[in-house]
Amino acid sequence: MFTPEMLESIKKVEATRADRIGVEPKRMTAEEKETLLSKFHPDYKTDSFEALKIGPNKGDKVPIELAALLQANSRVKGLDLDLENVAYDVDVLIIGGGGAGASAAIEAHNAGANVMIVTKLRMGDANTMMAEGGIQAADKANDSPAIHYLDALGGGHYANKPELLKKLVSEGPGAVKWLNEFGVMFDKAPDGTMITTHGGGTSRKRMHAARDYSGAEIMRVLRDEVMNREIPIVDFTAAIELILDENGKAAGAVLQNMETCEYLVARAKTVIIATGGAGRLHYQGFPTSNHYGATADGLILAYRAGAPLLYADTLQYHPTGVAFPEQIFGALVTEKVRSMGAMLINSEGEAFMHPLETRDVAAASVIRECNERHKGVETPEGYGVWLDTPMIDIIHGEGMLEKRLPAMLRMYMKYDIDMRKVPILIYPTLHYQNGGIDISVDGMSHVENLFVAGEAVGGIHGRNRLMGNSLLDVIVFGRNAGQNAAAKASSVKVGKLTLDHVDKYAKEMEQAGIKSDKVSPLLLPTYTHGREKRQAE
Ligand code: FUM
Repeated sequence: MFTPEMLESIKKVEATRADRIGVEPKRMTAEEKETLLSKFHPDYKTDSFEALKIGPNKGDKVPIELAALLQANSRVKGLDLDLENVAYDVDVLIIGGGGAGASAAIEAHNAGANVMIVTKLRMGDANTMMAEGGIQAADKANDSPAIHYLDALGGGHYANKPELLKKLVSEGPGAVKWLNEFGVMFDKAPDGTMITTHGGGTSRKRMHAARDYSGAEIMRVLRDEVMNREIPIVDFTAAIELILDENGKAAGAVLQNMETCEYLVARAKTVIIATGGAGRLHYQGFPTSNHYGATADGLILAYRAGAPLLYADTLQYHPTGVAFPEQIFGALVTEKVRSMGAMLINSEGEAFMHPLETRDVAAASVIRECNERHKGVETPEGYGVWLDTPMIDIIHGEGMLEKRLPAMLRMYMKYDIDMRKVPILIYPTLHYQNGGIDISVDGMSHVENLFVAGEAVGGIHGRNRLMGNSLLDVIVFGRNAGQNAAAKASSVKVGKLTLDHVDKYAKEMEQAGIKSDKVSPLLLPTYTHGREKRQAE
């Protein structure tokens, strides 16, 4: 499986292993981090960003791939849609079937709202399902929401919206309790107390996990709850444009059945965007740990409807994506591997950084090791560095890796790599969009009656999210959006439905001289040239 060069390098990793056990590599200073980030983090690569020419964020830089979709043609362009022909009429329309959408649906349902979920794939096909390492919550005696706040604020480069971050951390313990009571099987000690671990940038052990498939376990339970309540789910159906009413308030969406291509109108008193991330846009050519539908759809819909974005220029590259074997290139290797003691080691067997620096710093450090110091290991896709996984069983005792990281072990075993015995090769993978749609603390965007939850929100995590704060935010802000959207819906009287904002946006594009051959939202990634061409036609 490994090349002769890899095997040579593994010998060097093995030779330094015993001396590394129990020795913490030194932490970087703030100044060292800033220098490293500015030179090696992809967010600082100015030629990969472009200023938007139109819309609420006109003049702001976003990744060029996102700019192309934000300034593309609507999928409803040229369609003869009858907005009076309403297929679904609900109080709360939720777009997206991941953790945030499910949490919102449960709370809106609790509030007595007539709620419906529409999802372009199936319920649970979402980044929540892919999450591995865990969910943060300050519920231990040595911890507090205030300490959690400070950790996340530092990790986020002090750019987090204070009121959103305050909500996230103060509702953390309640969110984990909520999940636990629904039946999420968190890792627990024999006496029933939750086992918690560190993540990058945390000063307390507050990561609650379900082995290394925390997101799948959480999604399993939330999906069951939605289904048990018989909340309607319209699957394989994408929202391709928001509908506003004559007063400019969100009032539904144009839906497209992904199989039949039929167009349907959903009218709603309030709408919640819970469409997740953008990894499948493969910014700067990076592979991704994201699920197949992560194409920034919610950002496109909201932006065209007039909702500003916040920090759309900042992405998270998870430091440890699979670099080898190529069949699983870009898949996530959970940070939990490092929190259990595995170190990042270069081709010469040297530990080149503290394994639990924040993600942006860790990713930049791996990139520097490969690109500038030339101490990466060559792979079919480029370069990678070692994550010294055999350290885990040496530190914690035989069997611990299998117990806490069973999915990871199984994933590698499929390729005859036993990560208990040999280190694995990693390189950063596009993992998360730190930015998204700007909301206020009630979850509403700047467009009246348009709420947002989960990864589509910008500002909670500032310019860099800490591990485990995403699963937390899908629960906290999903529930929040569900509660507030339901409450708001009780007093909303929907006016005449219109798509005038789409025409207005198209005119703005024309006036700005933008000629796009693209349509958006993208809905599904384009891995073949032919498909991209067909979509544009
Ligand atoms: O590394 C991880 O398990 C990822 C967690 C997260 O993004 O929160």
